[in-house]
Amino acid sequence: MISDITAAQDAALADIAAAPSLEDVVVLTTRLSGKKGELAALKKRLGSLDSIDDRKAAGQAVNDAMAAVDAALAARRAELAQVEMASRVDAERLDLTEFVGRPTRGHAHLVTQAWERLEDVFVGLGFRVAEGPEVETDWHNFEALNMPVGHPARGEWDTLFVDHVPPGGEPGTTVLRTHTSPVQIRTMLEEEPPIYIVAPGRVFRRDTPDATHMPVFHQIEGLVIDRGITMADLAGTIEAFTQAYFGPGFHSRLRPSYFPFTEPSAEFDIQRPNGDWIELGGSGMVHPNVLRAGGLDPEVWSGFAFGFGIDRMAKERHGIEDIREMYADDIRFIEQF
Ligand code: DAH
Repeated sequence: MISDITAAQDAALADIAAAPSLEDVVVLTTRLSGKKGELAALKKRLGSLDSIDDRKAAGQAVNDAMAAVDAALAARRAELAQVEMASRVDAERLDLTEFVGRPTRGHAHLVTQAWERLEDVFVGLGFRVAEGPEVETDWHNFEALNMPVGHPARGEWDTLFVDHVPPGGEPGTTVLRTHTSPVQIRTMLEEEPPIYIVAPGRVFRRDTPDATHMPVFHQIEGLVIDRGITMADLAGTIEAFTQAYFGPGFHSRLRPSYFPFTEPSAEFDIQRPNGDWIELGGSGMVHPNVLRAGGLDPEVWSGFAFGFGIDRMAKERHGIEDIREMYADDIRFIEQF
């Protein structure tokens, strides 16, 4: 009996050691281990032994054999799992050195380049970079900018609304910001003047893409609040920016216009050295109602603001015909800039 048990154990251990895969170990487990396994069958034969001592010894041997087989199964399973993992890692390995020395190296996108250079130029002029959220309240995006509910100028910004009702708020008052101007309000509420900030960022409008429009694009906002700021400071800043960003042969002009958040308001254009004018953005003296919404006393503080499209400026600067090209992810286009 004992020799049968030893033989069965040896055979089982040899099979386990030779199992080539995890699936084979599963099959062996059913065959060798548990109540219906080969060793369990030997246990049933214990009853046929006459002497109690023989039964005890054989019973012990079967139990030891079963334990040894279970341990061997577990060890082989762990071993094979490791081998399979190693071969999977090997199969999925990416050889990153493949890309070294290819003729094109990555670089920042055209719009990112413009964004970063704009920041650099304004920081050079003494501005700080500020930011605000892309998902805004109606209040920050419109109302605090002197556009109460129902104000006709709201129609200028085709607005995307977010299906979110703030705690204690009204439905339909959460928007994707249609411009970077709400950062003016957030900055005034957060810090004490003097304020000299620019706020570049993503903005959203309910527009169908065409050669000159994208529903997602970028703007940069400027805000200055100090004592005794005048329209001359605005004009001087725009001119200094124009020459620093575009080059010494470029100049700027202001044209009377209307925006609810500035009074007076002006659009500003940039003149190329060849004499052509490019319309760039809007600007003006911060409206007293906007100062009040920002928690500032218009009798003490005055300021100017401006805002323009980063994508549009990059488009003009590089003579790009269709603004959609900038977002088409065509490497042949992107590589040119
Ligand atoms: N927010 C305006 C727009 O999206 C641009 C603008 C105009 C910003 C005048 C200003 C400003 O700060 O003073 O069309």
